[in-house]
Amino acid sequence: MSQLWNFISMVWYQLTFKPQPLPDDIRLEGQTAIVTGSNVGLGFEAARELASHGLARLILAVRDPAKGEAAKTKIAREAPECDIQVWSLDQESWDSMATFAERARTELDRVDIVLLNAGLKRLEYTRSPTGHEAHVQTNHLGTALLSLLLAEPLRRTARQTRKPSRLTITASSVAFWAPINDVQKPKGGKGILAWLDDPASFVPGVSHYCLSKLLDIFWTRALAPRFDPKEVIVNTLNPGWCESSFHRADPQSERFSKYLAWSSAQGAYHLTDAAVRHPDSHGAYLSEQRIRPISGFISSAEGQKVQQKLWDETIAVILEECPKANIEEFTKST
Ligand SMILES: NC(=O)c1ccc[n+]([C@@H]2O[C@H](COP(=O)([O-])OP(=O)(O)OC[C@H]3O[C@@H](n4cnc5c(N)ncnc54)[C@H](OP(=O)(O)O)[C@@H]3O)[C@@H](O)[C@H]2O)c1
Repeated sequence: MSQLWNFISMVWYQLTFKPQPLPDDIRLEGQTAIVTGSNVGLGFEAARELASHGLARLILAVRDPAKGEAAKTKIAREAPECDIQVWSLDQESWDSMATFAERARTELDRVDIVLLNAGLKRLEYTRSPTGHEAHVQTNHLGTALLSLLLAEPLRRTARQTRKPSRLTITASSVAFWAPINDVQKPKGGKGILAWLDDPASFVPGVSHYCLSKLLDIFWTRALAPRFDPKEVIVNTLNPGWCESSFHRADPQSERFSKYLAWSSAQGAYHLTDAAVRHPDSHGAYLSEQRIRPISGFISSAEGQKVQQKLWDETIAVILEECPKANIEEFTKST
């Protein structure tokens, strides 16, 4: 699909599709959900919607506890029965992520839903304290590590409840706008991640953000076969173009937002829809609250090679840089 077609299709669904909240009869009594990046924006609205459907316990996974507490206060007003906890999580710190996941493994008797939603967009090159480019670190490596470390409580819960738990990753349709060459033919003989970490690969603007969302989709597709969908349904989604603080550093997007954007709550409907409904969505990408077939590069033979390479490189980075993380089972080939 050409970039122009991608753009027209995005404008079309933004103007014509009306995102729907969860139906009232969906009840989450007894369940526990973890939502990352839930102090503001789509994560906050998704957390709020899950709580309003009778969720027993909600873990707001945030990097700034004060902002998390403010979000908790707002949600608690509408869902006083829900046990809302603010847990610290910084996806730019291996230590923070490993500690967070260990806490989930040891303190939570069940984890029914994990919504890996935290993300950032930067128009200029920035490096995370881990040494990786910021999108690579937060949007890809952080999401990937949490998806592996939270496997244990998700599977354990499925065995207790005899129904699949859910692991949902917030991607974006901008994945299809990403410059494929950067992942297919990284320069300088480098691997995909080493090339994307290299300032020489960074084109000022949104291209690294788009690439990081492409990595989210590849990662979901690589991850899904490592789970039995009877235990954990893994999927990813496009929430559409939404008002949030996300576009604050991107004046061009802010301008378009006025005409096209959905509210954060409407964007969040896509997150909760993917995380609660669609039992047939294992490994799938959802957009406009429907499973969408993935054609083109991602599903091509070349795309499969990139996917495998990305998996191998990601596992290698985690083993090297986050020795605290026990990801042994994921080091074996499927
Ligand atoms: N808005 C859109 O139009 C749109 C479209 C497609 C996809 N998305 C995706 O939707 C997700 C949420 O975006 P949003 O629009 O809700 O943006 P947002 O309002 O900026 O929220 C992003 C959230 O991620 C958190 N976060 C950022 N870096 C983090 C880190 N290193 N560790 C932990 N948390 C971190 C932020 O925390 P702080 O508040 O502390 O910064 C915030 O809670 C992102 O994955 C984004 O790519 C958004």
